[in-house]
Amino acid sequence: MQTFPNFTLHLADCIDIIPQLPDNSLDAIFADPPYFLSNGGISVQSGKQVCVDKGDWDKGGTPEYIYNFNRRWLELCRPKLKDNGTIWISGTYHNIFTVQRCLQELGYKILNIITWQKTDPPPNLSCRYFNFSTELIIWARKSEKVPHKFNYEVMRHLNGDKQMTDVWRLPAVGKWEKTCGKHPTQKPLRLLYRIILASTDEGGTILDPFAGSSTTGIAANLLGRNYIGIEKEKEFFDLSIARRNELEDNEKRQKLLDNIRKTENSATVLVNHARKELRELMIEKGICYLRAGDSKGSLQVTPGFERMKYVLLHTNGENCQMFKLKKEGTFQIWTKENLEKYGFSPEHSTHYIVLHFDNTKEVGFEKQLNLKQKINTYRAKIRPLSDFVGIM
Ligand SMILES: C[S@@+](CC[C@H](N)C(=O)[O-])C[C@H]1O[C@@H](n2cnc3c(N)ncnc32)[C@H](O)[C@@H]1O
Repeated sequence: MQTFPNFTLHLADCIDIIPQLPDNSLDAIFADPPYFLSNGGISVQSGKQVCVDKGDWDKGGTPEYIYNFNRRWLELCRPKLKDNGTIWISGTYHNIFTVQRCLQELGYKILNIITWQKTDPPPNLSCRYFNFSTELIIWARKSEKVPHKFNYEVMRHLNGDKQMTDVWRLPAVGKWEKTCGKHPTQKPLRLLYRIILASTDEGGTILDPFAGSSTTGIAANLLGRNYIGIEKEKEFFDLSIARRNELEDNEKRQKLLDNIRKTENSATVLVNHARKELRELMIEKGICYLRAGDSKGSLQVTPGFERMKYVLLHTNGENCQMFKLKKEGTFQIWTKENLEKYGFSPEHSTHYIVLHFDNTKEVGFEKQLNLKQKINTYRAKIRPLSDFVGIM
């Protein structure tokens, strides 16, 4: 066993460790068990044809073996969940229907079947099937009757103020997540980040009985949650420790968070410093402007701009107020003279980027970044909306 603050990893079979955990102690469980799909098929990795062989742990058994295996660990997990706790299990058709049957037999209540649609699936070489581009994740709660934990508002916020659906379009695991080596079936951090935000609060505890490279643990610790992982292969245990070690480096930690939050459809916020009187005038007019061009201190139109949905105005990091843009992802270029007609007195440039926002309603947000920190300078910055929600 190896421990870090909020991170405990057992090198063992989960069947031996789960019974030792206290009853009613877990807020959530994420399990990525063997899918039993390493049966000699072919696939593509980095442009090359490869045999589907994830390792001995993933080799197929008889349907009866797969059923008994899933039933056993799911049965051990249930009493360990808090009464309002939930479990997430990922899979494909090879194992997921067996998992669903076991869950129902054991008294769990199924809440959703999430379809994770990979935005960049490898091609199907045989050309005899539709391309496989999805994995399924069953979300279930401990009991039929007790309501479960769900951070509905956080999910809605992250989805640009629309109800999040059960289809999640996320890319497969990226190079930036493999800096310590890779696991053959590593899950993307973005997927676990969403699962953990949806079903736990800060300080909560998550178990992963099939830890692999501990993606669950890394996402949990980045979000201020506790992690218990179990992995039986030494190679993957060591990989997990190396990944966790990276989090001790604040710069690497921040880089991981920045990458996780850069998803193709997540809303972004323009964070803009303006002195007090100017901020007030901007709010009165519903107009926020920034110097166009790329001289020091100005906004550069970087990726994320097209997903911009909010503007957050502040003065030296104080008096933060957030508003919704009138039209998502759009801006106009105005001349200095045009701004002057609206009562502004811009001094630094001939042209400005202008954003129109709804000044009648302030948008509440939960987390206030320290806008004086080096990472969030006084200058205009595009930040993911998740910087302001979900983590109190
Ligand atoms: C599908 S992988 C998990 C990958 C992981 N989600 C990640 O992101 O790296 C399943 C892992 O469970 C491990 N495993 C299989 N059976 C196990 C058992 N009975 N107890 C503990 N670990 C087990 C395998 O060695 C493998 O690393």
